[in-house]
Amino acid sequence: MPLQNVVSIADLSDAEIALLLDRAHALVGSPRLAPTGAACIQLLFYEDSTRTRTSFETAARRLGFDVCLVTASGSSVAKGENLRDTIVTLQESVDPAVIVVRHPENYAPRFVAEAPWSTTSVVNAGDGTNEHPTQALLDAFTLQRHFGADRLQGLKVAIVGDIVRSRVARSNAMLLPRLGVDVTLVAPQLPADVSQWGVRVSGDLDAVVPDVDVVMALRIQRERMASELDIDASDYHSTFGLTLARAELMAPTAMVMHPGPMNRGVEIANEVADGPRSLITQQVRNGVWMRMAVLETLVHRTEQ
Ligand code: NCD
Repeated sequence: MPLQNVVSIADLSDAEIALLLDRAHALVGSPRLAPTGAACIQLLFYEDSTRTRTSFETAARRLGFDVCLVTASGSSVAKGENLRDTIVTLQESVDPAVIVVRHPENYAPRFVAEAPWSTTSVVNAGDGTNEHPTQALLDAFTLQRHFGADRLQGLKVAIVGDIVRSRVARSNAMLLPRLGVDVTLVAPQLPADVSQWGVRVSGDLDAVVPDVDVVMALRIQRERMASELDIDASDYHSTFGLTLARAELMAPTAMVMHPGPMNRGVEIANEVADGPRSLITQQVRNGVWMRMAVLETLVHRTEQ
């Protein structure tokens, strides 16, 4: 059956993952297509976003699709309209081929994808602390482009930071091991169910850093830090931050990633973020190709 939604990494088969990655590789450098009016992509963002929103928007336009953007502020969501009524309204007016949803509540995109009133494909652009599947796909794509598409088997990646609240960590921890990547989580706090994630865990960043091919730093959520983590920014930086001293412990060919937005000087030092090991701008660039692959695959399903 053709791919219908991209809501969770868990829903994607190995073949679908391989197809999306291959398609993203094939799309790299492809010219922008003229608008065809054939399909419209609805972006529905209930949370702030810079990278994810603009990259879906750019991906859609490069494919020649129309784009309609609704954000919570400035729409009837701010007047209290519920998710169902908003989606039904968009289906009736915009009639999108795909709805890309970012929402603060876990599983909101799944709720939309599975609702009987929903007639379109759904892409999860980040739901609460649950998942961010296209970020994990673009991260895997970035690893393939940097290390070689057939070189992920046995590659060692440390994911460091606010794992408990990170949808990026969860989706990457689900996807990367399926591609043969050896994942270690390093965090001040770990999710209660981490033993079921099938990855290694460590509390000692200095021990992990020299042994991995990639350190993926995650945003530490300042807004929740004081009350929940009970740790201040400079303590965090010295214990879990990707400092220049730590980056110098890394193997010569080892690289650094971060999904953004970065708290510079907290989870990652300026010199590391902007240094020669950084794949951070490549991640942003690759995000557009990966999201083109996702949108194109979903739209073509409806055209068949
Ligand atoms: C992440 C997100 O929003 O989940 N950013 C992104 O999409 N690139 C990570 C974060 O906000 O920390």
